[in-house]
Amino acid sequence: MKILITGGAGFIGSHVVRLFVNKYPEYQIYNLDVLTYAGNLENLKDIENEDNYHFLKADINDANKINSLFSEYKFDKVIHLAAESHVDRSITDPLAFVKTNVIGTMNLLNAAKKYWPKGFDKNLFYHISTDEVYGTLGETGLFTETTSYDPNSPYSASKASSDHFVRAYGETYDLPYIITNCSNNYGPNQFPEKLIPLFINNIIENKKLPVYGDGKYTRDWLYVIDHAIAIDLAFHQGENKSTYNIGGFNEWQNIDLVKLLCKIMDEKLGRYRGESEKLITYIKDRPGHDKRYAIDASKIKKELGWKPTVTFEEGLEKTIDWYLENELWLNNITSGDYQYYYKDQYQ
Ligand code: NAD
Ligand code: DAU
Repeated sequence: MKILITGGAGFIGSHVVRLFVNKYPEYQIYNLDVLTYAGNLENLKDIENEDNYHFLKADINDANKINSLFSEYKFDKVIHLAAESHVDRSITDPLAFVKTNVIGTMNLLNAAKKYWPKGFDKNLFYHISTDEVYGTLGETGLFTETTSYDPNSPYSASKASSDHFVRAYGETYDLPYIITNCSNNYGPNQFPEKLIPLFINNIIENKKLPVYGDGKYTRDWLYVIDHAIAIDLAFHQGENKSTYNIGGFNEWQNIDLVKLLCKIMDEKLGRYRGESEKLITYIKDRPGHDKRYAIDASKIKKELGWKPTVTFEEGLEKTIDWYLENELWLNNITSGDYQYYYKDQYQ
Protein backbone atom coordinates (compact mmCIF):
# COMPACT_ATOMS: atom_id res chain seq x y z
CA MET A 1 0.00 0.00 0.00
CA LYS A 2 1.27 3.46 -0.92
CA ILE A 3 0.18 6.10 1.58
CA LEU A 4 0.55 9.81 0.99
CA ILE A 5 0.88 11.69 4.29
CA THR A 6 0.76 15.47 3.87
CA GLY A 7 2.33 17.79 6.43
CA GLY A 8 4.54 14.99 7.74
CA ALA A 9 7.38 17.33 8.66
CA GLY A 10 5.17 19.24 11.09
CA PHE A 11 4.33 18.50 14.70
CA ILE A 12 1.55 15.88 14.55
CA GLY A 13 2.47 14.72 11.04
CA SER A 14 5.99 13.73 12.09
CA HIS A 15 4.61 11.50 14.86
CA VAL A 16 2.13 9.91 12.43
CA VAL A 17 4.83 9.31 9.81
CA ARG A 18 7.15 7.74 12.40
CA LEU A 19 4.40 5.45 13.72
CA PHE A 20 3.43 4.25 10.22
CA VAL A 21 7.02 3.82 8.97
CA ASN A 22 8.03 1.77 12.02
CA LYS A 23 4.83 -0.20 12.52
CA TYR A 24 4.09 -1.04 8.87
CA PRO A 25 7.32 -1.91 6.99
CA GLU A 26 5.11 -3.38 4.25
CA TYR A 27 3.59 0.06 3.47
CA GLN A 28 5.37 2.72 1.43
CA ILE A 29 5.02 6.08 3.21
CA TYR A 30 5.30 9.28 1.14
CA ASN A 31 5.67 12.39 3.26
CA LEU A 32 4.63 15.42 1.19
CA ASP A 33 5.55 18.74 2.75
CA VAL A 34 6.53 22.17 1.43
CA LEU A 35 8.47 22.93 4.63
CA THR A 36 6.91 26.18 5.78
CA TYR A 37 8.23 27.77 8.99
CA ALA A 38 6.44 24.90 10.82
CA GLY A 39 7.89 22.05 8.76
CA ASN A 40 11.19 20.62 9.95
CA LEU A 41 12.92 17.51 8.60
CA GLU A 42 14.93 17.33 11.83
CA ASN A 43 11.70 15.92 13.30
CA LEU A 44 12.20 12.76 11.22
CA LYS A 45 15.98 12.23 11.43
CA ASP A 46 15.57 8.83 13.10
CA ILE A 47 13.56 7.32 10.23
CA GLU A 48 14.76 9.26 7.17
CA ASN A 49 16.83 6.33 5.87
CA GLU A 50 14.18 3.65 6.25
CA ASP A 51 13.40 1.80 2.99
CA ASN A 52 9.67 2.46 3.23
CA TYR A 53 10.03 6.23 3.83
CA HIS A 54 10.09 8.80 1.02
CA PHE A 55 10.08 12.60 1.20
CA LEU A 56 8.40 14.72 -1.49
CA LYS A 57 8.91 18.46 -1.24
CA ALA A 58 5.77 19.99 -2.72
CA ASP A 59 3.13 22.61 -2.11
CA ILE A 60 -0.48 21.45 -1.88
CA ASN A 61 -1.46 24.84 -3.33
CA ASP A 62 0.21 23.83 -6.60
CA ALA A 63 -2.51 21.79 -8.36
CA ASN A 64 -0.30 20.79 -11.32
CA LYS A 65 2.39 19.43 -9.03
CA ILE A 66 -0.11 17.52 -6.91
CA ASN A 67 -1.68 16.00 -10.04
CA SER A 68 1.69 14.96 -11.41
CA LEU A 69 2.64 13.30 -8.09
CA PHE A 70 -0.63 11.35 -8.00
CA SER A 71 -0.04 10.28 -11.58
CA GLU A 72 3.58 9.26 -10.96
CA TYR A 73 3.34 7.53 -7.57
CA LYS A 74 -0.19 6.11 -7.69
CA PHE A 75 -0.91 6.60 -4.00
CA ASP A 76 -3.66 4.32 -2.68
CA LYS A 77 -4.62 6.37 0.34
CA VAL A 78 -4.10 9.84 1.76
CA ILE A 79 -3.72 11.04 5.34
CA HIS A 80 -4.01 14.81 5.05
CA LEU A 81 -2.45 16.90 7.82
CA ALA A 82 -0.76 19.75 5.91
CA ALA A 83 -2.25 23.03 7.03
CA GLU A 84 -1.63 26.45 8.42
CA SER A 85 -2.35 25.61 12.04
CA HIS A 86 -1.89 28.61 14.34
CA VAL A 87 -4.94 30.68 15.30
CA ASP A 88 -2.97 33.89 15.99
CA ARG A 89 -1.36 33.78 12.54
CA SER A 90 -4.83 33.30 10.99
CA ILE A 91 -5.93 36.56 12.61
CA THR A 92 -2.98 38.39 11.01
CA ASP A 93 -3.13 36.70 7.59
CA PRO A 94 -6.47 34.93 6.97
CA LEU A 95 -5.94 34.47 3.23
CA ALA A 96 -2.92 32.22 3.76
CA PHE A 97 -5.28 29.90 5.65
CA VAL A 98 -7.88 29.90 2.88
CA LYS A 99 -5.16 29.09 0.36
CA THR A 100 -3.56 26.15 2.12
CA ASN A 101 -6.41 24.79 4.22
CA VAL A 102 -9.22 25.17 1.69
CA ILE A 103 -7.67 25.34 -1.80
CA GLY A 104 -4.83 22.98 -0.86
CA THR A 105 -7.35 20.41 0.39
CA MET A 106 -9.39 20.89 -2.80
CA ASN A 107 -6.31 20.22 -4.93
CA LEU A 108 -5.75 16.93 -3.11
CA LEU A 109 -9.42 15.95 -3.39
CA ASN A 110 -9.43 16.75 -7.11
CA ALA A 111 -6.27 14.72 -7.70
CA ALA A 112 -7.74 11.78 -5.78
CA LYS A 113 -10.95 11.98 -7.79
CA LYS A 114 -9.04 12.21 -11.07
CA TYR A 115 -6.32 9.59 -10.56
CA TRP A 116 -7.94 6.98 -8.37
CA PRO A 117 -9.59 4.15 -10.31
CA LYS A 118 -13.38 4.45 -10.55
CA GLY A 119 -15.08 2.55 -7.76
CA PHE A 120 -12.39 3.76 -5.31
CA ASP A 121 -12.19 0.20 -3.97
CA LYS A 122 -8.79 0.47 -2.32
CA ASN A 123 -8.80 4.18 -1.62
CA LEU A 124 -9.32 6.45 1.36
CA PHE A 125 -9.05 10.20 1.88
CA TYR A 126 -8.42 10.63 5.60
CA HIS A 127 -8.74 14.29 6.59
CA ILE A 128 -7.29 15.45 9.92
CA SER A 129 -9.35 18.22 11.46
CA THR A 130 -9.87 20.05 14.71
CA ASP A 131 -12.47 20.51 17.44
CA GLU A 132 -12.30 24.27 16.77
CA VAL A 133 -14.79 23.84 13.90
CA TYR A 134 -17.53 23.46 16.52
CA GLY A 135 -16.93 26.95 17.92
CA THR A 136 -17.03 27.49 21.64
CA LEU A 137 -18.72 25.87 24.65
CA GLY A 138 -20.13 27.50 27.77
CA GLU A 139 -19.39 26.18 31.26
CA THR A 140 -20.90 22.77 30.50
CA GLY A 141 -21.41 20.37 27.59
CA LEU A 142 -19.10 18.55 25.19
CA PHE A 143 -18.58 18.56 21.42
CA THR A 144 -20.01 15.41 19.81
CA GLU A 145 -19.82 14.33 16.17
CA THR A 146 -23.26 15.85 15.59
CA THR A 147 -22.55 19.27 17.12
CA SER A 148 -23.20 21.99 14.51
CA TYR A 149 -20.21 23.69 12.98
CA ASP A 150 -19.83 27.26 14.30
CA PRO A 151 -16.22 28.37 13.70
CA ASN A 152 -15.05 31.69 15.16
CA SER A 153 -11.49 32.24 13.89
CA PRO A 154 -10.21 32.39 10.31
CA TYR A 155 -8.24 29.21 11.14
CA SER A 156 -11.29 27.27 12.31
CA ALA A 157 -13.42 28.66 9.45
CA SER A 158 -10.84 27.40 6.95
CA LYS A 159 -10.71 23.97 8.60
CA ALA A 160 -14.54 23.82 8.72
CA SER A 161 -14.64 24.66 5.03
CA SER A 162 -12.16 21.91 4.18
CA ASP A 163 -14.17 19.40 6.25
CA HIS A 164 -17.30 20.34 4.29
CA PHE A 165 -15.54 19.81 0.97
CA VAL A 166 -14.25 16.40 2.03
CA ARG A 167 -17.75 15.35 3.05
CA ALA A 168 -19.22 16.84 -0.15
CA TYR A 169 -16.78 14.82 -2.31
CA GLY A 170 -17.91 11.74 -0.41
CA GLU A 171 -21.59 12.47 -1.11
CA THR A 172 -21.20 13.75 -4.68
CA TYR A 173 -18.46 11.54 -6.10
CA ASP A 174 -18.57 8.65 -3.62
CA LEU A 175 -14.96 9.35 -2.62
CA PRO A 176 -14.23 7.25 0.49
CA TYR A 177 -13.33 9.48 3.42
CA ILE A 178 -12.87 9.66 7.17
CA ILE A 179 -12.61 12.89 9.15
CA THR A 180 -11.34 13.08 12.70
CA ASN A 181 -11.70 16.22 14.82
CA CYS A 182 -9.16 16.39 17.60
CA SER A 183 -8.61 18.62 20.62
CA ASN A 184 -5.37 20.46 21.55
CA ASN A 185 -2.25 18.34 21.11
CA TYR A 186 0.98 18.76 23.02
CA GLY A 187 4.28 16.88 23.09
CA PRO A 188 7.76 16.79 21.52
CA ASN A 189 8.44 18.69 18.27
CA GLN A 190 5.64 21.25 18.61
CA PHE A 191 6.55 24.64 17.16
CA PRO A 192 7.03 27.15 20.00
CA GLU A 193 4.21 29.42 18.90
CA LYS A 194 1.60 27.23 20.64
CA LEU A 195 0.95 27.69 24.36
CA ILE A 196 2.92 24.82 25.93
CA PRO A 197 6.19 24.93 23.94
CA LEU A 198 6.14 28.74 23.85
CA PHE A 199 5.90 28.89 27.62
CA ILE A 200 8.52 26.16 28.13
CA ASN A 201 10.92 28.13 25.95
CA ASN A 202 10.14 31.40 27.72
CA ILE A 203 10.65 29.82 31.16
CA ILE A 204 14.03 28.47 30.04
CA GLU A 205 14.96 31.95 28.77
CA ASN A 206 13.46 33.73 31.80
CA LYS A 207 11.11 35.68 29.53
CA LYS A 208 7.56 36.84 30.34
CA LEU A 209 4.73 34.31 30.02
CA PRO A 210 2.05 36.15 28.00
CA VAL A 211 -1.36 34.87 29.18
CA TYR A 212 -4.24 36.16 27.03
CA GLY A 213 -7.15 37.88 28.80
CA ASP A 214 -7.99 36.54 32.26
CA GLY A 215 -6.40 33.14 31.56
CA LYS A 216 -9.69 31.39 32.29
CA TYR A 217 -10.03 29.82 28.86
CA THR A 218 -10.33 26.05 28.81
CA ARG A 219 -8.74 23.53 26.46
CA ASP A 220 -8.84 19.71 26.36
CA TRP A 221 -5.22 18.49 26.07
CA LEU A 222 -4.07 15.27 24.41
CA TYR A 223 -0.54 13.86 24.17
CA VAL A 224 0.43 13.83 20.48
CA ILE A 225 1.35 10.13 20.38
CA ASP A 226 -2.13 9.24 21.60
CA HIS A 227 -3.47 11.25 18.66
CA ALA A 228 -1.19 9.33 16.27
CA ILE A 229 -2.47 6.03 17.75
CA ALA A 230 -6.07 7.18 17.22
CA ILE A 231 -5.26 8.10 13.60
CA ASP A 232 -3.74 4.63 13.03
CA LEU A 233 -6.93 3.01 14.38
CA ALA A 234 -9.35 5.22 12.45
CA PHE A 235 -7.30 4.77 9.26
CA HIS A 236 -7.46 0.97 9.50
CA GLN A 237 -10.78 0.35 11.21
CA GLY A 238 -12.85 3.51 10.85
CA GLU A 239 -16.12 3.35 8.97
CA ASN A 240 -16.17 4.89 5.50
CA LYS A 241 -17.81 8.35 5.33
CA SER A 242 -17.77 8.88 9.04
CA THR A 243 -16.40 11.32 11.56
CA TYR A 244 -14.76 10.63 14.91
CA ASN A 245 -14.00 13.10 17.68
CA ILE A 246 -10.69 12.59 19.51
CA GLY A 247 -9.95 14.22 22.85
CA GLY A 248 -8.00 13.84 26.03
CA PHE A 249 -10.81 13.74 28.63
CA ASN A 250 -8.50 16.35 30.12
CA GLU A 251 -9.77 19.93 30.52
CA TRP A 252 -7.53 22.66 31.93
CA GLN A 253 -8.00 26.37 32.35
CA ASN A 254 -4.96 28.05 30.80
CA ILE A 255 -3.84 29.70 34.01
CA ASP A 256 -3.91 26.43 35.99
CA LEU A 257 -1.96 24.67 33.26
CA VAL A 258 0.62 27.47 33.16
CA LYS A 259 1.07 27.32 36.94
CA LEU A 260 1.58 23.54 36.79
CA LEU A 261 4.13 24.02 34.01
CA CYS A 262 5.96 26.63 36.11
CA LYS A 263 6.05 24.28 39.09
CA ILE A 264 7.53 21.37 37.12
CA MET A 265 10.01 23.66 35.36
CA ASP A 266 11.19 25.12 38.70
CA GLU A 267 11.97 21.58 39.88
CA LYS A 268 13.71 20.60 36.63
CA LEU A 269 15.76 23.78 36.43
CA GLY A 270 16.68 23.80 40.13
CA ARG A 271 14.89 27.11 40.68
CA TYR A 272 13.14 27.98 43.92
CA ARG A 273 9.41 27.16 44.09
CA GLY A 274 7.38 30.02 42.59
CA GLU A 275 10.27 31.56 40.62
CA SER A 276 8.85 30.86 37.14
CA GLU A 277 5.31 31.89 38.14
CA LYS A 278 6.63 35.42 38.59
CA LEU A 279 7.05 35.55 34.81
CA ILE A 280 3.26 35.29 34.25
CA THR A 281 1.98 38.45 32.58
CA TYR A 282 -1.64 39.00 31.57
CA ILE A 283 -1.85 40.62 28.15
CA LYS A 284 -4.52 41.80 25.70
CA ASP A 285 -6.89 39.01 24.75
CA ARG A 286 -6.90 37.17 21.42
CA PRO A 287 -9.78 38.54 19.29
CA GLY A 288 -12.66 36.04 18.96
CA HIS A 289 -11.03 33.88 21.65
CA ASP A 290 -13.06 30.67 22.13
CA LYS A 291 -13.91 30.24 25.81
CA ARG A 292 -13.93 26.48 26.14
CA TYR A 293 -13.33 23.35 24.06
CA ALA A 294 -14.09 19.87 25.35
CA ILE A 295 -14.50 16.69 23.35
CA ASP A 296 -16.85 13.80 23.85
CA ALA A 297 -14.63 10.98 22.53
CA SER A 298 -17.04 8.19 23.43
CA LYS A 299 -17.71 7.19 19.79
CA ILE A 300 -14.08 6.34 18.98
CA LYS A 301 -13.74 4.71 22.38
CA LYS A 302 -16.81 2.53 21.89
CA GLU A 303 -16.38 1.71 18.19
CA LEU A 304 -12.60 1.47 17.84
CA GLY A 305 -11.51 0.84 21.43
CA TRP A 306 -9.33 3.97 21.60
CA LYS A 307 -8.52 5.89 24.74
CA PRO A 308 -5.56 8.02 25.79
CA THR A 309 -2.66 6.02 27.21
CA VAL A 310 -0.62 8.88 28.68
CA THR A 311 -1.82 10.91 31.68
CA PHE A 312 -1.42 14.67 31.53
CA GLU A 313 1.18 14.68 34.31
CA GLU A 314 3.27 12.03 32.48
CA GLY A 315 2.83 13.72 29.12
CA LEU A 316 3.77 17.14 30.40
CA GLU A 317 6.87 15.77 32.10
CA LYS A 318 7.94 13.88 28.94
CA THR A 319 7.35 17.04 26.89
CA ILE A 320 9.36 19.28 29.20
CA ASP A 321 12.20 16.74 29.30
CA TRP A 322 12.20 16.57 25.50
CA TYR A 323 12.55 20.35 25.16
CA LEU A 324 15.27 20.48 27.80
CA GLU A 325 17.19 17.68 26.06
CA ASN A 326 16.74 19.17 22.58
CA GLU A 327 18.11 22.63 23.09
CA LEU A 328 19.65 22.65 19.61
CA TRP A 329 16.28 21.89 17.94
CA LEU A 330 14.74 24.75 19.94
CA ASN A 331 17.60 27.18 19.28
CA ASN A 332 17.53 26.49 15.54
CA ILE A 333 13.86 27.45 15.51
CA THR A 334 13.86 30.38 17.90
CA SER A 335 16.78 32.17 16.29
CA GLY A 336 16.05 33.78 12.89
CA ASP A 337 12.52 34.55 11.67
CA TYR A 338 10.89 33.41 14.91
CA GLN A 339 12.25 36.57 16.56
CA TYR A 340 10.30 38.76 14.10
CA TYR A 341 7.13 36.72 14.66
CA TYR A 342 7.54 36.98 18.42
CA LYS A 343 8.09 40.72 18.33
CA ASP A 344 5.06 41.37 16.08
CA GLN A 345 2.80 39.12 18.11
CA TYR A 346 3.77 40.10 21.63
CA GLN A 347 5.27 43.59 21.68
P1 NAD B 1 2.07 22.22 12.08
O1 NAD B 1 1.85 23.67 11.79
O2 NAD B 1 3.04 21.83 13.13
O3 NAD B 1 2.52 21.47 10.74
C1 NAD B 1 1.92 21.72 9.50
C2 NAD B 1 2.79 21.06 8.43
O4 NAD B 1 2.14 21.28 7.16
C3 NAD B 1 4.19 21.65 8.33
O5 NAD B 1 5.15 20.62 8.19
C4 NAD B 1 4.13 22.52 7.08
O6 NAD B 1 5.38 22.65 6.42
C5 NAD B 1 3.12 21.75 6.24
N1 NAD B 1 2.45 22.62 5.26
C6 NAD B 1 1.85 23.82 5.53
N2 NAD B 1 1.40 24.35 4.37
C7 NAD B 1 1.70 23.46 3.38
C8 NAD B 1 1.49 23.45 1.98
N3 NAD B 1 0.90 24.48 1.36
N4 NAD B 1 1.91 22.39 1.26
C9 NAD B 1 2.53 21.35 1.88
N5 NAD B 1 2.79 21.32 3.20
C10 NAD B 1 2.37 22.36 3.95
O7 NAD B 1 0.62 21.63 12.37
P2 NAD B 1 0.14 20.54 13.43
O8 NAD B 1 -0.11 21.19 14.72
O9 NAD B 1 1.03 19.37 13.33
O10 NAD B 1 -1.28 20.17 12.79
C11 NAD B 1 -1.39 19.19 11.76
C12 NAD B 1 -2.85 19.05 11.38
O11 NAD B 1 -3.63 18.67 12.51
C13 NAD B 1 -3.49 20.34 10.85
O12 NAD B 1 -4.36 20.00 9.80
C14 NAD B 1 -4.26 20.89 12.03
O13 NAD B 1 -5.36 21.64 11.62
C15 NAD B 1 -4.69 19.60 12.71
N6 NAD B 1 -4.90 19.67 14.17
C16 NAD B 1 -3.93 20.20 14.99
C17 NAD B 1 -4.12 20.19 16.37
C18 NAD B 1 -3.07 20.73 17.32
O14 NAD B 1 -3.35 20.83 18.51
N7 NAD B 1 -1.89 21.09 16.86
C19 NAD B 1 -5.29 19.66 16.90
C20 NAD B 1 -6.27 19.15 16.03
C21 NAD B 1 -6.04 19.15 14.67
O1 DAU C 1 -8.23 22.64 19.61
C1 DAU C 1 -7.36 22.20 18.61
C2 DAU C 1 -6.51 23.36 18.15
O2 DAU C 1 -5.60 23.64 19.20
C3 DAU C 1 -5.77 23.07 16.85
O3 DAU C 1 -6.69 22.89 15.81
C4 DAU C 1 -4.82 24.23 16.51
O4 DAU C 1 -4.05 23.90 15.37
C5 DAU C 1 -3.90 24.47 17.69
O5 DAU C 1 -3.11 25.61 17.43
C6 DAU C 1 -4.70 24.69 18.98
O6 DAU C 1 -5.40 25.95 18.98
P1 DAU C 1 -5.46 26.89 20.28
O7 DAU C 1 -5.71 28.26 19.85
O8 DAU C 1 -6.35 26.31 21.31
O9 DAU C 1 -3.92 26.68 20.80
P2 DAU C 1 -2.83 27.71 21.36
O10 DAU C 1 -1.70 26.88 21.85
O11 DAU C 1 -2.54 28.79 20.40
O12 DAU C 1 -3.59 28.35 22.61
C7 DAU C 1 -4.04 27.55 23.68
C8 DAU C 1 -4.70 28.50 24.68
O13 DAU C 1 -3.71 29.33 25.27
C9 DAU C 1 -5.72 29.45 24.06
O14 DAU C 1 -6.79 29.67 24.97
C10 DAU C 1 -4.93 30.74 23.87
C11 DAU C 1 -3.96 30.72 25.04
N1 DAU C 1 -2.67 31.38 24.76
C12 DAU C 1 -1.96 31.00 23.70
C13 DAU C 1 -0.75 31.61 23.40
C14 DAU C 1 0.03 31.20 22.16
C15 DAU C 1 -2.20 32.36 25.65
O15 DAU C 1 -2.83 32.68 26.66
N2 DAU C 1 -0.99 32.96 25.36
C16 DAU C 1 -0.26 32.63 24.26
O16 DAU C 1 0.81 33.25 24.05
